[in-house]
Amino acid sequence: MNLTFQRSPLNAVKSDVTVAFIHQDVKLLTSELHRLNKQFKNQFSAVLETGDFKGKEAESLVLYPGKGAASSRLVLVGLGEKKHATLEKFRRAAATGAKKARHLKAGTIAFEVPANLVDKTDSLLALAEGAFLSLYRYDKYLSKKKDDEPKPEELIFCSTDKSLAAIATRVLARAQILCEATCLARDLQNAPANEIYPETLAKAAQDSADKNGYTAKVLDEFEIKDLGMGGVIGVSQGSARPPRFIILEYGSQSKKPVVLVGKGVTFDTGGISIKPAASMSEMKMDMSGAAAVIGTFEAVSRLKMPVHIVGLIPAVENMPSGTSVRPGDILRHFNGKTSEVDNTDAEGRLILADALGYAEKYKPSAVIDLATLTGAVVVALGHYATGMMGNDDKLMKTLKIAGEKTYERVWRLPMFDEYEKLIKSEVADVKNVGGRWAGAITAAWFLKKFIGDYKWTHLDIAGTAILEENLDYAPKGGSGVGVRLLTEFLKNWK
Ligand code: BES
Ligand code: MN
Ligand code: ZN
Repeated sequence: MNLTFQRSPLNAVKSDVTVAFIHQDVKLLTSELHRLNKQFKNQFSAVLETGDFKGKEAESLVLYPGKGAASSRLVLVGLGEKKHATLEKFRRAAATGAKKARHLKAGTIAFEVPANLVDKTDSLLALAEGAFLSLYRYDKYLSKKKDDEPKPEELIFCSTDKSLAAIATRVLARAQILCEATCLARDLQNAPANEIYPETLAKAAQDSADKNGYTAKVLDEFEIKDLGMGGVIGVSQGSARPPRFIILEYGSQSKKPVVLVGKGVTFDTGGISIKPAASMSEMKMDMSGAAAVIGTFEAVSRLKMPVHIVGLIPAVENMPSGTSVRPGDILRHFNGKTSEVDNTDAEGRLILADALGYAEKYKPSAVIDLATLTGAVVVALGHYATGMMGNDDKLMKTLKIAGEKTYERVWRLPMFDEYEKLIKSEVADVKNVGGRWAGAITAAWFLKKFIGDYKWTHLDIAGTAILEENLDYAPKGGSGVGVRLLTEFLKNWK
């Protein structure tokens, strides 16, 4: 899907469907409808007379301009009240228009960029993101694609505004990269576990690296064992699929890197502490943290951002078998500390412990881990916020701001000292579960035992990465969360 700009009024852009956005405020609504009516030779007088279109959020109406028009359909989309306008409302309105146009089988969709924008760059980016991301579908394995609704090929944004025209091509190129990288993450998440397992996840990272000029190094099970990564070995030992440890690097070595760590459990059965059958298939997405890291490397490298980043992905499959790690087993991690495996379904923290220890060798300016780590964070925050915990206020504040901007919002949970004792073990340095309460926090406390002397933030994306229902511009399944968040964060982190 291609994003392009045309400096032109809406009625002059050739497309299958055109989309115009209109605010709810009566004055604006009337004047905008008058303007469109005039542009389209008084074909829409009835809309003005009946008042059928009110400009409310999520409202849309299809109009037919009649013979001779550059486009045979015009979709009006409501923006709600102007005083409540936000970038997110632009994303959602563009998504409404784009999905409506796809429903009308449009191959080319033209969007009119609203006039008098406060921030032209951010607004156009938001419109493009909403439209592009809403049209994503995972249909790779469908023999018969949804032919009745083919995927649009071109999204044209138009305006007569001179200063918008001056920046539009650059903004849309950025949007295209951010959205394609997000959809790469979605594809990796949605791929079944018989396609994406540790070796093929590593291959996907390697492909992205080769294509975009960054490096990927993949350690096999023997190298992982030699390094003393007992968590990665322990969790993977029950599976026929050997583990991989993926190391990505982009940018100038002269700067201290930001290290991004992604949980790469390509399938989580729970192991010997096996999960119930209901919705276990979702656990093919237990590598969403890894997908976010690979997607971020794709975006950052294609955008040629002036940053130094390292990506660390421990990739394993968590299976029950005769060779599996057992409840009660004790593992020794990369940094020498030991953990008691009380529950083999708390496997994410066991592999992240090794990666967080390994991160120390880069003398990072910050370490951020992303993981579908706990069901508890979904209970606490649902699908609308990522759980955030860490040891540095400035780092978390920078992430918070990036979260508001991209609407990949994060919300901080406390790491009070009192929680630490919940994961005390009698036989090892720490136990991998903390009992019934505060599950997201005790998981973070476990990770904290393995970090080095660096600024660190843990993002529990279990709720935001795996969607059980469609959202406005993210269909059910993998959301690709983290890619836009981290790319925005990296722009601002010093
Ligand atoms: N991958 C799961 C967490 C998860 C649950 C992600 C639901 C997405 C949706 C993780 O490995 C896990 O099983 N966590 C356990 C921890 C428990 C055993 C302490 C959980 O949350 O139940
Ligand atoms: Mn688990
Ligand atoms: Zn898991």
